[in-house]
Amino acid sequence: MKTILVTGGTDGIGKGIATHYLKKGDRVIVIGSSAAKGNLFLSEAKQLGAEERAIFLQADLSSVKENKRIIEEVKSRLHSLDMVVFSATSHKIKKEYTETQEGLEFNFGLSYMSRFVLSFGFKELLEKSDIPIIVNVCAPGMNGTVDLNDIQNKNNYNGSKARYHGSRLNDLLGVAFVDMDTVRKIKYVLFNPWAVQTTGMLETIENPVNKLFTKLIFKIIGKPVDQAIIPIIELLDKPPEPNLTAYIQRKEVSLTKKTFNRENAQQLYKNTVQLLEVVMEK
Ligand SMILES: NC(=O)c1ccc[n+]([C@@H]2O[C@H](COP(=O)([O-])OP(=O)(O)OC[C@H]3O[C@@H](n4cnc5c(N)ncnc54)[C@H](OP(=O)(O)O)[C@@H]3O)[C@@H](O)[C@H]2O)c1
Repeated sequence: MKTILVTGGTDGIGKGIATHYLKKGDRVIVIGSSAAKGNLFLSEAKQLGAEERAIFLQADLSSVKENKRIIEEVKSRLHSLDMVVFSATSHKIKKEYTETQEGLEFNFGLSYMSRFVLSFGFKELLEKSDIPIIVNVCAPGMNGTVDLNDIQNKNNYNGSKARYHGSRLNDLLGVAFVDMDTVRKIKYVLFNPWAVQTTGMLETIENPVNKLFTKLIFKIIGKPVDQAIIPIIELLDKPPEPNLTAYIQRKEVSLTKKTFNRENAQQLYKNTVQLLEVVMEK
């Protein structure tokens, strides 16, 4: 029996992956902010006869302190982790610049900082597995730059830009993680699922015309969750040989792309560590 932890495992792509491994007979820990979604996951696990292998941890992952609490809780319950999947997100575009209680821009906190803290925080537990893997579900392969002088988009905030920026930050997180990793056991995969028909993606658009248009486009080019997760399951079951890889669905993305620049990754790592120190001192 393997152990998999899925952030955002209570809905969308994350839930699809979590349910797959529950059905397969593995131990599954899911993290989400809503108790209702978590309890639904647990009652579905019960129906599968898998309640003893299903754990729901409620946390607002846009908070650094909550991510740190989760790491400690998982360490206290488990001796090792085989697979970690990052799939927590909020598709809702915040028109106004919004800060968490810790003073982080919301998208930055949830889509990047959480994954940074958890990647390094679960490293030791993962290294106890024979073939450990982290799959960071984001959007590698897309273009864009990271403003290293304003990693939280505090200046000239734009809601859509802030969301895409989060994915560029995750590209660099993958590079920095593998660069810093002297043990070199964990396989780090950046995965772009392309268009997936999740409720989060389709229902959180406020403008009714945009919502209708997006639903139509996703009906044509998008995939249902059960199909979209197949390549992720394949990677989790048979991790790639290199320590860092990036994919758009099954197509490998070249790591020579500018978005994976090593110097930028090192600089972002330093900036993030400094920012974390400030948050933890508060
Ligand atoms: N769907 C697509 O077309 C698409 C395309 C490209 C990339 N992606 C990437 O794929 C990943 C999954 O997307 P999805 O469409 O499956 O998302 P989704 O259906 O909206 O599910 C998001 C999950 O994140 C959790 N979550 C949201 N806010 C949270 C918070 N503050 N703390 C903890 N958990 C939180 C949600 O649970 P709660 O509501 O209970 O918190 C839910 O379980 C994301 O990283 C996304 O960027 C998706």
